[in-house]
Amino acid sequence: MKAILFVFPFVLAVAYFPISQCQNLPLIEQTCKQTPYYGLCVTLLKSDPRSKTAGDVQAIALIMVDIIKAKAGGALQHIERLKQKYPALRVPLSACKDRFNAIIIGDVPQAVEALTKGDPKFAVDAANDAALEADSFIVPVIIQCDDNFINQICRRTPFRDLCIATLEPNTNSSSSDVKGLASIMANIVLGNASDTLNYIEGLIKQAPDPQQERALANCAELYIPVVRYELPQAIDALSKGHFGFANYCIADAGKQADACEKGFSGSAKSPLSDRNNLLKSLCGIAVAIINLLAKRLS
Ligand SMILES: *[C@@H]1O[C@H](CO)[C@@H](O)[C@H](O)[C@H]1NC(C)=O
Ligand SMILES: *[C@@H]1O[C@H](CO)[C@@H](O)[C@H](O)[C@H]1NC(C)=O
Repeated sequence: MKAILFVFPFVLAVAYFPISQCQNLPLIEQTCKQTPYYGLCVTLLKSDPRSKTAGDVQAIALIMVDIIKAKAGGALQHIERLKQKYPALRVPLSACKDRFNAIIIGDVPQAVEALTKGDPKFAVDAANDAALEADSFIVPVIIQCDDNFINQICRRTPFRDLCIATLEPNTNSSSSDVKGLASIMANIVLGNASDTLNYIEGLIKQAPDPQQERALANCAELYIPVVRYELPQAIDALSKGHFGFANYCIADAGKQADACEKGFSGSAKSPLSDRNNLLKSLCGIAVAIINLLAKRLS
């Protein structure tokens, strides 16, 4: 659905800008070559029998408008089914539904009017509007409306499976947007770091030899500022939209876990390897999610 909506403004825009006539390509190919989703564009248009007899780019664009209308209608039915299946998601799904309705009731007729009127100014404005919407409004909506939202976000992190395993059991995840997931992840990072610090303090009390004890004390020194200052500051920064600072702190927490691990050598085998590695990976996931957020709002 997301990519289909992306094709929409481009096909509309193509309808108003001259296509190089040097290429002797059939009309569909010629039009779709101007969009970033050539394959999808061709497939969609070829699935509609009217494309065969379409005489110009405007006619192709009108067919694309119809396809978008049908897809948005399909999305509405899909949302309705999801609402039955996941009562907890009623509120965000209703918001999705409103926005799809806006596409069907608002954007589509406007695009049709622009296309049939052939009013160049109005038409170009409509195309620009649609393109703007695809960027600032449709993409986040499509991402949030997807019933596999956590999967989609986790796919964009360096540890997809760990990300899903961490976020899915959290009851707040299912109703969260990207920022909500980033915040859940940052809190899990803090939970793990603080749990590990407690564990380290327990181990220090029963350390078998001085070398081991030194390495453990070194880890405690590294983890204390992470747990007391760095991660709480990151969580605060995240809530205020200071994504760069949040990421700086979280990435640094990962580095401290690494430094702790490297402090063990020789006979002093690290009893913290699993915990340090997990924390490092969780930090990597949190940073990747916050980067998605930063990119989207920039
Ligand atoms: C979910 O969010 C609520 C309200 O912010 C919070 O009190 C609760 O601890 C959260 N639950 C989990 C599992 O994080
Ligand atoms: C540590 O991270 C894991 C995710 O792998 C999570 O399930 C667990 O709840 C976290 N522990 C704490 C104490 O936050």
